[in-house]
Amino acid sequence: MAAGILGVGHYVPKRVMTNLDLEKIVDTSDEWIQSRTGIETRHIAGDDEETSDLAYEASVRALADAGIQGHELELILVATITGDMAFPSVACQLQNRLGAKKAAAMDVGAACAGFMYGMITAQQFIENAEYKKVLVVGAEKLSKITDWTDRNTCVLFGDGAGACVMGPVADGYGIKSFELGADGTGDTALYQENELIRMNGREVFKFAVRQMPESSENVVLKAGLTKDDVDFLVPHQANVRIMEAARMRLDIPKEKMAYSINKYGNTSAASIPIALSEEVKNNKITPGDNVVLVGFGGGLTWGAVLLTY
Ligand code: ACO
Repeated sequence: MAAGILGVGHYVPKRVMTNLDLEKIVDTSDEWIQSRTGIETRHIAGDDEETSDLAYEASVRALADAGIQGHELELILVATITGDMAFPSVACQLQNRLGAKKAAAMDVGAACAGFMYGMITAQQFIENAEYKKVLVVGAEKLSKITDWTDRNTCVLFGDGAGACVMGPVADGYGIKSFELGADGTGDTALYQENELIRMNGREVFKFAVRQMPESSENVVLKAGLTKDDVDFLVPHQANVRIMEAARMRLDIPKEKMAYSINKYGNTSAASIPIALSEEVKNNKITPGDNVVLVGFGGGLTWGAVLLTY
């Protein structure tokens, strides 16, 4: 019995911050940001909206899409590096707010690759026939750990959340292969210091333009498929140039790649489920499509799956 997606949902805060807004804060330009990253705007949560609130909104939408209620959930996994507090976890906060009384709950920390780690963890419990209804969420309020005086990083990030309900699916559907990895020697490329994000952009870039295409291709081959079988690519939305590297390795046209970095920036663990949810809502991803999801992040970490939606 394969594990697959039963419902998707996403949510971003209302406030939009443009590149022109950033020009007023740091020495940067709309032209620099768009040409180097593809980002035009990002959504920023207010003081009254925490990571758990973003996660909750996305989860309610995913549960409605799956046609299930909170009390039916057996496991809640939340990928985040910006939980409201160290404990309780965002997953436990959600468990309470969704009335998911019988669900186990924990957060997953793998930075921007966190959603892939969560999804693959969920897959194991589902394929072992342990659980039939698992909620996997990626949620971040990166704005609270962004150094708004550092032009190298503050132009990149945004807030938001995406969620999937996962469970057993019919033969031929669901996750066909995955790849997970970590390289702890990359701990100085991307890390948190005194609460704030620190990044060696060039190091992260070099790692990501190699890893994203490699992992994308690996999951296709591991599934016994060829590039021609891939219908859609949902890459972590960190930088359009990195996303393009993955797309070109899979030889798929632009319209077959999720592209929302222009609107939301890099929302870390939330970026893949937000992009997936949008493409499903827009009918760009439809049942039977072979979809590659691929992400990388601080750690360094990476993960990819090939699933038939
Ligand atoms: N506006 C204007 N100039 C800037 C800005 C800015 N916002 N930021 C940096 N610059 C300057 C730099 O200071 C540098 O100037 P210098 O040559 O005088 O030193 C110049 O622009 C070029 O810098 P580069 O690092 O060469 O620029 P690059 O083309 O590599 O783009 C970027 C930088 C966008 C950060 C790129 O390296 C990148 O995308 N890296 C990956 C980042 C990433 O994906 N992070 C993911 C985090 S995932 C997670 O876990 C949260």
